[in-house]
Amino acid sequence: NLPEKAVIIEVGPRDGLQNEQNFVDTEVKKLFIQKLAAAGIQEMEITSFVSPKWVPQMRDAEEVALAVPEGIRSYVLAPNRRGIDRALETPSKAIAVFVGVTNTFNEKNINKTTEEGMNELRPLLSDLKEKNYFIRACISTAFYCPYEGKVAETDTLSLCHEFAKAGVDELSVADTIGMAVPTEAFSLFSKIKNELPDLLITAHFHDTRKTALANIVAAMQAGVDRFDASAGGLGGCPFAPGATGNVATEDVVYLLERMGVKTGIHLDRLTRAIDVIAPKISRPIETGYYRLSRQS
Ligand code: HMG
Ligand code: MG
Repeated sequence: NLPEKAVIIEVGPRDGLQNEQNFVDTEVKKLFIQKLAAAGIQEMEITSFVSPKWVPQMRDAEEVALAVPEGIRSYVLAPNRRGIDRALETPSKAIAVFVGVTNTFNEKNINKTTEEGMNELRPLLSDLKEKNYFIRACISTAFYCPYEGKVAETDTLSLCHEFAKAGVDELSVADTIGMAVPTEAFSLFSKIKNELPDLLITAHFHDTRKTALANIVAAMQAGVDRFDASAGGLGGCPFAPGATGNVATEDVVYLLERMGVKTGIHLDRLTRAIDVIAPKISRPIETGYYRLSRQS
């Protein structure tokens, strides 16, 4: 019982680059975004309006956000009022906010506990709804926390419900440090789909232990048809030690298309988008599909 089609939300320009030590030129980021859109990506996180002291790579967010491609949904991330005020000045009509399930992770990532983070966001989300923004809520440490270990499903579900009450349109539920396995992915996503049938539910897997593709299949069996992925498998949260890249977009597209699940993404054009970013980052791109495509 697989879906006929799935949506891939490209997070490379945001999650993919935020942890990169070398500052990637703004023009290169814009070209990367344009090439990703040209490959058929329909939804994309393009940048984040966070503190440039915390995440220097995102210091050009204003300029990058001006480059939103036509006809696709472009998300910008914002952690607080200042971030949302900055985002409101850009053409983007979709804002992603983020809070993790665990307090320790949130203290390291946003300098607030889970409750403080939610208390700050609630009124801001209600303003955004009135302004007709699409709101995506990213839920970190939904399975495991780098500081607190295994996270109880009930804690993750309760944060999902809080965001639902706050009026968000989408939940992107994350395995921040890539520790989940398919049994856990199936169990949690079945419950989320069942308890929150009116929300868009997206799975965000990091591939630290190479379980991400298997988790995607398990999440699909639980009814999920939206997946975050990063071209070239770039990515990781600077405040989650051990977090490596997101599952690679090209590997997800290959897997889904071969299983008959349509993504609308053109693999060859996707590798050309990766060609733009590959020489600008500090580590080689070693994802299966990309490496093979560049050997021939
Ligand atoms: P803070 O230091 O507690 O903030 O940081 P503050 O409110 O005390 O302000 C301190 C200074 O920062 C002030 O400037 C503010 O104006 C400025 P100063 O007076 O010192 O010159 N400031 C800002 N500047 C620009 N944009 C802003 C902003 N806010 C305050 N939005 C803060 C709190 C939330 C700002 C900080 O902790 C932060 O930026 N955190 C972001 C961390 C981040 O980007 N993490 C990665 C994204 S989440 C992720 O990757 C996980 C995800 O992929 C899912 C998964 O895999 O788990 C989504
Ligand atoms: Mg992430």
